[in-house]
Amino acid sequence: MPEIIVTTREGATASLNVKAGITLMEALRDGGYDELLALCGGCCSCATCHVYIDPAFAGKLPKMSEDENELLDSSSHRHETSRLSCQIRVTDALDGMKTTIAPED
Ligand code: FES
Repeated sequence: MPEIIVTTREGATASLNVKAGITLMEALRDGGYDELLALCGGCCSCATCHVYIDPAFAGKLPKMSEDENELLDSSSHRHETSRLSCQIRVTDALDGMKTTIAPED
């Protein structure tokens, strides 16, 4: 079961054991991180599931789609490690990955 290290907007860090195969957004939502709104439910149309990803894992993540890239552009908090968590499926390869919930737009 991959372990993801989550940092909240307030800076609190905790580890989350995730069932491989679900998305990072689902893992965060099911883990009780209500500050991640995920309003569209994972349809890649709201950008409220914005997170920052540990750069060490960048090469292990699925490639960013054009839709995800455009949506992230609508955030004033985008930076180079930004991803939409609903577009990342958690696999064993992501064990130990750190992620931080991005500020709300
Ligand atoms: S949940 Fe809406 S874009 Fe990810």
